[in-house]
Amino acid sequence: MNFYILTLFPEMVMDGLNTSIIGRAAEAGLLRLEAVNIRDYSANKHHKVDDYPYGGGAGMLMQAQPVYDAYQAVLGRIGRKPRCIYVTPQGRTFSQKDAKRFAKESDLVFLCGHYEGIDERVLEEIVTDYVSIGDYVLTGGELPAMVMVDAISRMVPGVLGNQESGSAESFEGSLLEYPQYSRPEEWRGRRVPEVLLSGHHKNIEAWRRQQSILRTRERRPDLLAQAELTDKEREWLKEGMGKRQGLAEKDK
Ligand code: ADE
Repeated sequence: MNFYILTLFPEMVMDGLNTSIIGRAAEAGLLRLEAVNIRDYSANKHHKVDDYPYGGGAGMLMQAQPVYDAYQAVLGRIGRKPRCIYVTPQGRTFSQKDAKRFAKESDLVFLCGHYEGIDERVLEEIVTDYVSIGDYVLTGGELPAMVMVDAISRMVPGVLGNQESGSAESFEGSLLEYPQYSRPEEWRGRRVPEVLLSGHHKNIEAWRRQQSILRTRERRPDLLAQAELTDKEREWLKEGMGKRQGLAEKDK
């Protein structure tokens, strides 16, 4: 999987991503991260990449030419038209589903904007997806691009050491992950739920599933509406079983 990040701040992107799990995966050859400095493609003798917006208004805009030439340089190396994601608060909101979908691509280009944005004409020419990381405005596209590269990378086979850790996690089947505990059995008077110490794998699995459902209802009821629940589980929730258990769990 090759990531090309078109940016005015290549060090920020590379420093942020070349650590931890993503850095290791890149070293192992599972991923390739390349930050392309848009300024290197400026045709201006002062390496200028921005100018005033026609029609007036606050701030400066990134010009079309350097962005387009940086993109063309990447295109020349890939040899075909890749998916090009413009990170913008005007995009649709990125989700775990997108992370999985994008992880199937062999090349992904991210375009990071700055100042008041980018000349619309180059966006029309190269962008395939407009994607946001949430309804708030950041100073540039680098952090959102890094967030997406991280989430996509961990969905690339082999990047997570343990294949399991990608499947039981939050958002699988639109449910949040169940609570987890490690040693000691008791900490500040709080005990690890007995079922987890029982060694009874079927009961543990059932308890975790219930906890996932209860936790999703409590913290993200909007997600529960799309969750893949069995008829039995839906009935269990409707009958108030879940509610009683949820309260009991909280009162522990
Ligand atoms: N650029 C600025 N804010 C952003 C956001 N919330 N998502 C994606 N790109 C952005």
